[in-house]
Amino acid sequence: MSFLTVPDNASVLRLLNQAAKPEALPSLAGKTVCMAFFEPSTRTRLSFEAAAHKLGANVIGFSDVASTSGAKGETLEDTIRVLSGYCDAIVLRHPETGAAERADAVSDVPIINAGDGAGVHPSQTLLDLFTIQQHFGRLDVDVAFVGDLANGRTVHSLAPAIDSFGGTCMQVPAPGLEWGDLPEKTLPEAVAEADVLYVTRVQAERGSTGAAPVVDAAALDGFDGIVMHPLPRVDELATDVDGGPCAKYFEQARNGVPVRMAILASELS
Ligand code: NCD
Repeated sequence: MSFLTVPDNASVLRLLNQAAKPEALPSLAGKTVCMAFFEPSTRTRLSFEAAAHKLGANVIGFSDVASTSGAKGETLEDTIRVLSGYCDAIVLRHPETGAAERADAVSDVPIINAGDGAGVHPSQTLLDLFTIQQHFGRLDVDVAFVGDLANGRTVHSLAPAIDSFGGTCMQVPAPGLEWGDLPEKTLPEAVAEADVLYVTRVQAERGSTGAAPVVDAAALDGFDGIVMHPLPRVDELATDVDGGPCAKYFEQARNGVPVRMAILASELS
């Protein structure tokens, strides 16, 4: 079974419970996980690698498409057909929306979607939900998405998940980068109403332009929720937030390891 989108709520809750007790996960000794990263990544690739190593699996892969036959014009489908003969699961990041489904259609092994263009980023959503659950003890929270919502794939998978767990979503978009029919708020309104400010950068590599609203310590005056960010940040989230009680983004990034351990164990054991 591949992991292409955020699974149903029962599966999400099972994975979050497993991520809370990673030492109880089964060993993946003897398994090989392939990291096929056609787009830059720091957190997603390295936390999947760390997760695989912690479970005893071997890791192969690439993170620079220029060093693969993709640079010679090989199609995604052919690359996946070949890689699926070398490993037990493929963690795929690709710049095109829908790439994970295309890969899944030709792969003999599970595909784990590690971000497909402006599409979705389901493993990020699971670690976001894990972070929210650890802090609030529940998932029916009010989330304000701030920044590039048009092209931010992390938003595209987290917002529906929050909705399906009974929370509410609002948006504070960068001008021209709004998404869907989420109610629009100003940043001060969001600070007053939301439990979570989920800040995102402008996705310049997907053609987004303009400036995201800036979240800094002054803008958070009186806020008693948490600030999350999938990272990397550019200038939309000021460093003066880092030391304060609202800052959750580095803990959020760390949660990538146990959550991705749970995902790998469920796909491979
Ligand atoms: C995000 C992504 O790749 O979509 N990063 C990540 O995986 N933590 C967000 C981003 O790049 O802005």
